[in-house]
Amino acid sequence: MKIFKNKHKLQKAILNQKNLSFVPTMGGLHKGHISLIKKSNKFKGKNIVSIFVNPKQFNNKKDYLNYPRSLNKDLSILKNLKVDYVFIPNKKEIFSFKPKNNIYLDNFSKKLCGSFRKGHFEGVLNIINRLLEIINPKRILLGAKDYQQLYLIKRHVTKKGIKTLVVKCNTIREKNGMACSTRNKLLNKKQARIGSKIYVYLNRLKKRHVVNINKMKEDIKNFGVKKIDYLEIYNLKTYKKTSLINKNTKIFIAYYLGNVRLIDNF
Ligand code: PAF
Repeated sequence: MKIFKNKHKLQKAILNQKNLSFVPTMGGLHKGHISLIKKSNKFKGKNIVSIFVNPKQFNNKKDYLNYPRSLNKDLSILKNLKVDYVFIPNKKEIFSFKPKNNIYLDNFSKKLCGSFRKGHFEGVLNIINRLLEIINPKRILLGAKDYQQLYLIKRHVTKKGIKTLVVKCNTIREKNGMACSTRNKLLNKKQARIGSKIYVYLNRLKKRHVVNINKMKEDIKNFGVKKIDYLEIYNLKTYKKTSLINKNTKIFIAYYLGNVRLIDNF
């Protein structure tokens, strides 16, 4: 496994890699990341993982500072997974150049997380646009837990004519049903039990056809959730809000357990 901090050295090393699979991360690696990396191992060619806690996608300074970091542990996980290249840039490496493409921000960025986290998706696209330019991978693997992120990256890549394929990977869940997330490390046992109840509840409701969103919010609050940013259903063909559930729809939720903000979709 080769580790790079400098983008030019990295670029020199991967110059002839025409079939690179790329997994971008902010570290704090968990089963979800491991599954993405294992999937990237299945493609022919080499793989690369980036670790960069991107300040531009945090709308809240405290959240950025509290974000779990575990570089040594992450590196040993990546080594065990036989990752070929790891890119750990600092802020200067990433932000000190002007990318060829500016970012394309689809209107769906204004919904869901976009309406609660000002500048979040601009921040995500900013970093992904830069990483794609530096690495020029054949494919990028992204988890469906961050569904809106996945969609917006896909739209950006398509609109800007970037050759990288966006590979959607299924959400990986903890034994208790919660979507794996680096932020789960910040939860106590009681909070994790509430997260698990929400999973069981929404997973059951997604099989219904008609639901009452207000009643759902009330039920979730009764599990012990103090704050729900949103609980909304979208049709994934039209990207319009709906209250009818069918094979084209998804329930999206963002809620807080203590100070920890979690998202999921069903
Ligand atoms: O999903 C994440 O961890 C981040 O948003 C990403 C894609 C690595 C960009 O910083």
